[in-house]
Amino acid sequence: MKKILVTGARGQIGSELITKLRSVYGNDNIIATDIRAVEGEVEEGPFEILDVTDEKRIFEIAKNYQVDTIMHLAALLSATAEKMPKTAWDINMGGLVNTLEAARELNLQFFTPSSIGAFGPSTPKVQTPQDTLQRPTTMYGVNKVAGELLCDYYYERFGVDTRGVRFPGLISYVAPPGGGTTDYAVEIYYEAIRQKSYTSYIAEGTYMDMMYMPDALEAIVQLMEADPSKLVHRNAFNISAISAEPMDFAKAIQSYIPDFDISFDVDPVRQKIADSWPNSIDSSAAEAEWGYKAKYDIDSITKDMLEKIAGKLR
Ligand code: SER
Repeated sequence: MKKILVTGARGQIGSELITKLRSVYGNDNIIATDIRAVEGEVEEGPFEILDVTDEKRIFEIAKNYQVDTIMHLAALLSATAEKMPKTAWDINMGGLVNTLEAARELNLQFFTPSSIGAFGPSTPKVQTPQDTLQRPTTMYGVNKVAGELLCDYYYERFGVDTRGVRFPGLISYVAPPGGGTTDYAVEIYYEAIRQKSYTSYIAEGTYMDMMYMPDALEAIVQLMEADPSKLVHRNAFNISAISAEPMDFAKAIQSYIPDFDISFDVDPVRQKIADSWPNSIDSSAAEAEWGYKAKYDIDSITKDMLEKIAGKLR
């Protein structure tokens, strides 16, 4: 049985991962941590305030609860990181090296996500291979590539059981994403329900990979449970469900809300980031090494998002 410390538990991934992990491993075996406490929130298991730049506190919590795994999610996303690059470096790299150190010293299994942001303009854009050129031009991308290498290093050098994926844009309705380039693919559904129209900050024709949160959560559990002898790669597996542009979401929404309307007011900062990322990535290494497979396509994502958000906003 696993006992897992999760950082960034209040974030877009963390909020749902905690629920999923508690249903798989039991409430008391999942230690949720975040820099933010949410008032009034009912906790179904242990929660601790944690700033991931505080190495001592990470060790303290990991030891107190005798965890055997860390899932490190706390990080600034791409658009926020571009606004405050030095802070992003401090939080993204500081948090990673601190949690890796805890994993090394306390002999813990370790998961952290990388991203499609780890690719750059010189990376092959279509069906981007697992192993390819990575020269990202954003601070977030620099952090992600350094993070992938650091996780490989801790495995090779110290034998830490590090594992990870490169997530595409994640679509979900529980907690909002904060400061990412792919956030439009979440906002569009809220606005479709609220006002039947959306103004996209990403231009028409800009393809990026996306995936529905239930598939992302399943991928994390599956990879962490995977037989290590089958893993040729360990960190930074490409995984994706769909490659889509804003019009694809608009059309999918129109099949449920026929008078939904999309317009464009492009944000140059986020557009530049999106243009530097792949149009689609190749997930075949994840499929071959640990059986990754997404269940949701753009239509089933759209149907579920619209139903759930309509229920939430009622
Ligand atoms: N969704 C993330 C972002 O847009 C990509 O990892 O920053």
